[in-house]
Amino acid sequence: MAERPYIVGNWKMNGSRTTLSEARAIDRGAQRTMKVEVALAPPYTLIHAVSREAGQIGVGAQDCHPGEEGAHTGDIAASMIADSGAKFVILGHSERRQDHAEQAELINAKIASALEAGLRIILCCGETLETRDAGQAEQFVLDQLRASLPKIDDAGERLSVAYEPIWAIGTGRTATTKDIAAMHKAIRGLIDETYGPDQSPDVRILYGGSVKPENAGEILATEEVGGALVGGASLTAESFLGIVVAAA
Ligand code: G3H
Repeated sequence: MAERPYIVGNWKMNGSRTTLSEARAIDRGAQRTMKVEVALAPPYTLIHAVSREAGQIGVGAQDCHPGEEGAHTGDIAASMIADSGAKFVILGHSERRQDHAEQAELINAKIASALEAGLRIILCCGETLETRDAGQAEQFVLDQLRASLPKIDDAGERLSVAYEPIWAIGTGRTATTKDIAAMHKAIRGLIDETYGPDQSPDVRILYGGSVKPENAGEILATEEVGGALVGGASLTAESFLGIVVAAA
């Protein structure tokens, strides 16, 4: 197993220069507990500033374009993200899959481009409530991952997977620890098969979906949970550091 839990804040489309103070406070708080690897994914506009002002934590992006450069108005290439100081990128988040109709082919092209740019990847997966209620959650999530896990030799270094049941994102509703443990175990089985015993133990499987200081301890103590991908509760240093402390 990877030694340190990985707690990643996804600011989504939130954050402005005024919230840089939160990033600085998160950075200071994270330095007090070296037992946890802490990272933030602010919007593109803040990556450079957060990298500069919160030097101890990892900084990443929430998406990238699959191309290297060219006529793609409004898009940002993985190499540009790396240039701006980011070290990782979140790909395949359900909000990208839903809002932008992203499917495996595009996600895989983004993964290839991000890896080429030297970025680490957090690959997201997760089912809708309808899929869960139909008893197909595990098959759906494993199929999503089978379609996108990159064929690389250094997965332990470069890859994390985030399991985020869509019905638990931003709803205040979390999956039960029994459900989380069952899904993470199934995902670990696939990662074992894909990457083998040398790499698999270092690929962390994060849980995401309404993680907050009050439930983080229980979720993070669940078998095969190697960290958390946190949305709403990462927007203030107080709540995000509450999760970091629970992970320590
Ligand atoms: O990327 C983060 C997840 O979508 C979880 O968001 O913590 O606001 O539910 P949330």
